[in-house]
Parts: sequence; structure tokens; C-alpha cells
Amino acid sequence: EIFQDSSYASKLAALEISDLIKQKQKEGKPCILGLATGSSPIKVYEELVTLYRLGELSFNNVITFNLDEYYPMDTDNQQSYYHFMHQHLFDHVDINPENINIPSGNINLEEIDQYCIDYEMKIKKLGGLDFQLLGIGRTGHIGFNEPGSHRNSGTRIITLDHITRRDAASDFNGLENVPKRAITMGISTIIKAKRILLLAWGHKKASVVKKTIEGEITPQIPASFLQDHKNITVILDSEAAADL
Ligand code: GLP
Repeated sequence: EIFQDSSYASKLAALEISDLIKQKQKEGKPCILGLATGSSPIKVYEELVTLYRLGELSFNNVITFNLDEYYPMDTDNQQSYYHFMHQHLFDHVDINPENINIPSGNINLEEIDQYCIDYEMKIKKLGGLDFQLLGIGRTGHIGFNEPGSHRNSGTRIITLDHITRRDAASDFNGLENVPKRAITMGISTIIKAKRILLLAWGHKKASVVKKTIEGEITPQIPASFLQDHKNITVILDSEAAADL
């Protein structure tokens, strides 16, 4: 779906999430949300906070799982995705802190494999993700599944692509400060979500959006695996859709 304006598109995305949360509340069930970081979902989170402040939405039945975190990374670091999520969403709504799951960036290296298996199992035991919000990196990554990531990949530690690190350099005051690794949910974790919304704004995403939607399905563009998903909507502004 192509919109002139990312603000309006973000509002619609937030309304869909809000409707799902309310639906689950009516059914007396938890709502399991997969959440993303980066600039793309910021307005969606703003809208969700607005709906909460208006008294139209509660997060008391919401359990969240974030896609990824830099490694190594402390939670009190301003560049952490932990900080990002609290700043843009969690600090402003009534979610139970125990229901927030963000991959930890300060697990000992030798414990990471088990940690990733546990993260995956926690999602599975809850019946999987009801919904996954995604952005996309210029390398074609979703979460931090960089080129070379396979369809059956699970939550794991990965090495960041140089382009990804360059794109993050301004947030970290220089390329040399950008972590070289990250923990990310896998492609298989993501595509098991019952519903997916992928957001992309601006001309810098036009080329990778075209490859994702119209190109061949390949580990070189990990987002292309989403072509096989039965319930995904890609939400674009006109600049991101320019090459389609
Ligand atoms: C980071 C995140 C991704 C995100 C991507 C795009 O790499 N790990 O989940 O989709 O950035 O970021 P932005 O939305 O700022 O373009």
C-alpha cells in the first residue's frame, strides 16, 4: 500500500495494532507483539501512545518481543534498542515491565547460544507472535538478518554488514563506535508471525524495496523471504515506492 505521507500511513498501522490488542482483550487473551526499532516505526509508537493517553487503549494484556539489540550493549547506553523502546513507547504506556522482552546486549559470549534458544522458546510457548512490525535496512535486512541469512535461521548473534554500520554511524558519533555484532530474531522466527506489517519511508529505501517485492527470493536480500508470507502488508510512502 502506497501513501503520500508516512504520518497518515503510520496512523493506520497503529490503528491496526490497537484493534488487535482490543480484540485479544475481548477474548481474554494476551496479545503477543513483535516490535522493531529504527526511525521507521517511531510515528507508529507515537500514535499508540496517543491512543493510550486518550484512554482508548490499554497495554495490560500485551507481551512484546523486540527483534534485535546491538552486541555488546548495555541497557543504560543511549544507543541501545532497550533505551529506544522505553523512550518511544514503554515509558509512556501501562505495559507490565515483566511483559517486555528485548534481546540482551550484555550476555556473556559463551552463554549467547542458550540465551537465543530460550528467547525463541519463550515466543513459541506463548503460541507465536500475533503480529510483527518491521522496518527494512538498505542491505535488505529485517531485524538484523543481514545478507546471507537463511529462511530457517533462528535467533542468534550475527556480524553487522558494513553498510548497516555506516548507516548507524551518526547515531554513534562515528563508524568506529558502532558495534560490530548484534543479536537478532531469525528469518524463521519472523515469518512465523501470524500478521506482518513492513514499513519503509524515503527515497533511500526505494532500491531495496523493489528487490524485496519484485526481485527473486534470495538470502542476499533476506527481506525477500517475506514474499512467501500469507498475511503481510508492505506500507510505503511514495518515495520508497518510486522504483516499483
Ligand atoms: C536497524 C534495525 C532494523 C531496522 C533498520 C532500518 O538496522 N535493526 O530493524 O529496520 O535499522 O532503520 P530505519 O527505520 O531507521 O531506516
